[in-house]
Amino acid sequence: MRVVILSALLLLLNRDGLKAESTSSERTGNKLPNVIIILADDMGFDDVSFRGGREFLTPNIDALAYHGRILDRLYAPAMCTPSRGALLSGKYPIHTGTQHFVISNEEPWALSLNATLMPEIFRNAGYSTNLIGKWHLGFARPEYTPTHRGFDYHYGYWGGFIDYYQRRAQMPVQNYTMGYDFRRNMQLECADRGVYMTDLLTNEAERLIREQPGKQKPLFLMLGHLAPHTANLNEPLQAPEEELRKFAHIKDPNRRKYAGMVSRLDQSVGRIVSALTRSEQLENSIIIFYSDNGGPSVGLFANTGSNWPLRGQKNTPWEGGVRVAGAIWSPLLEGRGNLFTQPFYVGDFLPTLAHAAGIELPESLKLDGIDLWPQLAGSKDAAHVPREILHNLDDVWRVSSLMLGQWKYVNGTTSAGQYDNLLTYRELDDVDPRESRYVVEVRNSPVSKALADFDLQRLTQARINTLRRAARVRCGDFQRGCNALVEECLFDLSVDPCETNNLAYSKPHSDVLSALRDRIHQLRAGAVAPGNRPSVSYADPSLHKCTWDSFEVKPAGSGNTYLCSANYLLISNQIIAVRLECDYHGLPCGG
Ligand SMILES: *[C@@H]1O[C@H](CO)[C@@H](O)[C@H](O)[C@H]1NC(C)=O
Ligand SMILES: *[C@@H]1O[C@H](CO)[C@@H](O)[C@H](O)[C@H]1NC(C)=O
Ligand SMILES: *[C@@H]1O[C@H](CO)[C@@H](O)[C@H](O)[C@H]1NC(C)=O
Repeated sequence: MRVVILSALLLLLNRDGLKAESTSSERTGNKLPNVIIILADDMGFDDVSFRGGREFLTPNIDALAYHGRILDRLYAPAMCTPSRGALLSGKYPIHTGTQHFVISNEEPWALSLNATLMPEIFRNAGYSTNLIGKWHLGFARPEYTPTHRGFDYHYGYWGGFIDYYQRRAQMPVQNYTMGYDFRRNMQLECADRGVYMTDLLTNEAERLIREQPGKQKPLFLMLGHLAPHTANLNEPLQAPEEELRKFAHIKDPNRRKYAGMVSRLDQSVGRIVSALTRSEQLENSIIIFYSDNGGPSVGLFANTGSNWPLRGQKNTPWEGGVRVAGAIWSPLLEGRGNLFTQPFYVGDFLPTLAHAAGIELPESLKLDGIDLWPQLAGSKDAAHVPREILHNLDDVWRVSSLMLGQWKYVNGTTSAGQYDNLLTYRELDDVDPRESRYVVEVRNSPVSKALADFDLQRLTQARINTLRRAARVRCGDFQRGCNALVEECLFDLSVDPCETNNLAYSKPHSDVLSALRDRIHQLRAGAVAPGNRPSVSYADPSLHKCTWDSFEVKPAGSGNTYLCSANYLLISNQIIAVRLECDYHGLPCGG
C-alpha cells in the first residue's frame, strides 16, 4: 500500500516537473517532441512518386509528404560522409574537415572531434538518443564511433555500406579483404544475420519505439537505412524476391531491383509511423524522411537512381547531386499539406529542431545552419529567408559550388565532367500497375491511415493531384549550357532549376558573379584542412578477426600516441601487418 502511494506521489512530482518545463517551451505542449529522422542512402531525387514518377510508387513516403510538407528545396552535400556530418554538426563540411570525398573503411580519419553533434545536444536536453543503421563518420579509433559522439545507443554499421544479408563489406580499394561490420553499441552483433537489412533496421526501430525510455524521456532516433545504396560489387543490388515480383513491369533488371529496394524502404516508413501510433507517441513527434545525397545513376556505386530532370548526380556540384528528395510531418506544423519552398540545408535541421524542442544553443557552436523552425512550422505563406548554401569547396579537386538567394555558382567539376549532364530520363512505358489507382494507394497506406486523424483539411483526390503536379520541377527552355571544365557557371535557379543557362558571361550579371566569387574566397579563408588520411594496411579485416574494427587504439598511459591494434610484426622498426585471407568459419559472426 505504502509503495503504491509513494509511486503515485512520485508521478505527481514528475508531472509537476514536466509542467515547469512546458511553461518554458509552450510550443511543444506538455512534452518535448520526439524527433525521428529516416535517412535514405543514395536515393535519387525523382525516385519518390510524389514528384510525379509513375515507374514505381512510394505511397508511404508520398503520404508523409502530402499530409505534412514536401521539402521542395532541401539541399545536402553530394556524398555520404559530408552530408551526414553536416546534418549532425550543423556545419558546412569545410568546417569539419569532410569537404573531400568520403571516409573509406580502411582510412584512419573522422568527422572533426571538435564539432558538438546533434545527439549530444539532445541528450543534454533530456532525450534518449539513438542511431539505427549507418554511421560513416569514422571508426578507426573508438572515440570516433557513434556511442562516443552523443548517441546512447547504436545498432548498425560503422562504414559506408554492407551486404544486405551478410553484413560484410569489401571496399572499392580491392586489396583489402572483406570484413564484417555490424554492431550493437561497441559489441559485434551476430544475431539475425540473413534478415534483409531494411527489415532488420526497421524491426529494431519498432522495438525501440515500443520499449524505449521515451515514455519517460523524449526520443531522438536517426534511422540511417542502407537502402538503396549498393552492396558489394559481386551483387550490388539486393531486394527480397516477393518485392521484385511487384515490379515485373520494369524491363531493366537493375532498375527492377532498385524499385524493390526503394519499395521496401517505403514500407519501412509506414512501419515506423504505425509503431509511433501504437505507442501513442505520434501526436508528439516530428518525422523527417530524406535522402543523404542525389542518386548515383552511373559510375561508382551506381544503383540506377534517377535525379531527373536535374543535371548531375551524387558526387557532383549540380542540383542532381545536392537537391534531394525529402518530406516532413508533425502536428506541430501549422501549415501542413503543401510544398515548403524555402531553400533548406541539412545543416539547418540542428538549430531548427533544437528550436522545436526549446533547446537554447550557445553561440560558441558557430553553426552554418540557421533556425528555420518559424518558417517550417508557421503558416504556408511565410516569406522566404534568403539562404546561402555552400554546396562544396573542395580544393583537392578544385570544385566549388555556392548558392546565394536565387543564384548558383559552380567552378570546376568532379570526375572530369563525365557526370555533368542530365543522366536519366523519366520512364514513361514501364508504368506501375498501381498507378491507375494512385490516390487510393496513397490513402490506404499505413502512413496515410495514421496521419489522416491529424489533418486540417481532408486529403482529397484533388488535393493529392494538385500537390503532385506542384512538386514537378519545370526546367524552362534554355539553350546555352555551361561546360564547367572550361568556364565558370552562374545560374538563376528561380527560373532555371535545371542549370541550363549560363549567365556568368552576361554583362548585367557581372556584379552577382563577383559577389559569389568573393564569398567563395572568404569561405575558403575560414576553411579547415580536409581531414582525409591515406589507407593503412593494418586496417585490413584479416587482422581483426575478419571484421572492420577500430584499428588504432590508445594504450593506457601513452599520452597522445596511437598504435595500430592489429597483429603486426616489427621488422627493423617498420610495422608490417600480417595479412591473411579471411576465413569466416569459426570467427565471430562467421559461417
Ligand atoms: C580543432 O580544434 C583545434 C584547437 O582549437 C584546432 O587547432 C583545429 O584546427 C581544429 N580542427 C578542426 C578540424 O576543426
Ligand atoms: C575557380 O577555379 C579556378 C581554377 O581552379 C581558380 O583559379 C579560381 O580561383 C576559382 N575561383 C574561385 C572563386 O574559387
Ligand atoms: C592496398 O594498397 C594500398 C595502395 O597501394 C596500400 O597503401 C595499402 O597498404 C594496401 N593494403 C593492404 C591491406 O595491403
